Amino acid sequence: MNTIDKFEIKGRVIIITGGAGFLGKKHAEAILDGGGIPVLIDISNESLDRAKEELLKEYPEGIVEIYKADIKDRHAMEQLAVEICGKYSHIDGLINNAANNPKVEGDAKNMKNIRFEDFPIEMWMDDISVGLTGALVCSQVFGSVMAKQKKGVILNISSDLGIIAPDQRIYQKDGLKEEEQMVKPVTYSVIKHGILGLTKYIATYWAQKGVRANSLCPAGVFNNQNDDFLDKLSNLIPMGRMADSDEYKGTILYLLSDASSYMTGATVIVDGGRTCW
Ligand SMILES: NC(=O)c1ccc[n+]([C@@H]2O[C@H](COP(=O)([O-])OP(=O)(O)OC[C@H]3O[C@@H](n4cnc5c(N)ncnc54)[C@H](O)[C@@H]3O)[C@@H](O)[C@H]2O)c1
Repeated sequence: MNTIDKFEIKGRVIIITGGAGFLGKKHAEAILDGGGIPVLIDISNESLDRAKEELLKEYPEGIVEIYKADIKDRHAMEQLAVEICGKYSHIDGLINNAANNPKVEGDAKNMKNIRFEDFPIEMWMDDISVGLTGALVCSQVFGSVMAKQKKGVILNISSDLGIIAPDQRIYQKDGLKEEEQMVKPVTYSVIKHGILGLTKYIATYWAQKGVRANSLCPAGVFNNQNDDFLDKLSNLIPMGRMADSDEYKGTILYLLSDASSYMTGATVIVDGGRTCW
């Protein structure tokens, strides 16, 4: 098989948690580009319908599945696995992508006080339950199907903040007292570092069962953030800019396909060089 053919994932069924979100839809495009079938799981019905409509407009020949479900709910995930296997008889991949994603940069408004000293325990529990427990549950349920099949791939979405600590200076605004300044929440760091541990655990646990697991650490994606924030962040990135939302698709397809067949337990950093500094 030639090298380019190894990137093909024709007919492979790949689940994306948080699939209706900003990057979830981009992951789905990468899967469709490779000939695969993306299965979007999300808690938002409206976003799921919109994502499916947009994807099918772009890929009229493609197949896109959507399911409204909460990834923390093991029973719901088990039912979903039965439904997907009933329809396709296999599950070939899982992207653990869902996370609470509070926007604290630029023009973010109406954020509760999430500074470290008073970070609410309820928020800690909720963030962890989506970002880590959700990834655990989905890996248990869908990963077990793949282990039985003796083939599959799990791709966990971490972040550059799974490697380095947030530089809180880039979220600061002139004229606010220190205690009023926005910060990246502590849960983001904990979850994104934790995802790397989960990946290495699964990679070694299922290595003999043909299930590979890797982490992708993307850096911030340009999404109309204001100029002040863009200047501060770009200054921390050797390439001098945020990512375009399409710039992870090549890596996603590589990690989902047989092109990465000898890769497991790896932490793949795609960040314009930010974590080198
Ligand atoms: N956007 C970035 O710049 C960036 C950078 C680095 C890493 N990441 C990571 O990439 C992933 C996706 O980011 P995004 O920007 O697309 O975020 P997003 O908020 O647009 O999407 C997350 C999706 O997850 C869904 N979700 C939340 N809780 C859920 C649950 N319990 N069950 C099912 N679905 C649930 C939300 O409805 C949403 O559609 C996240 O893990 C994020 O931390 C994003």
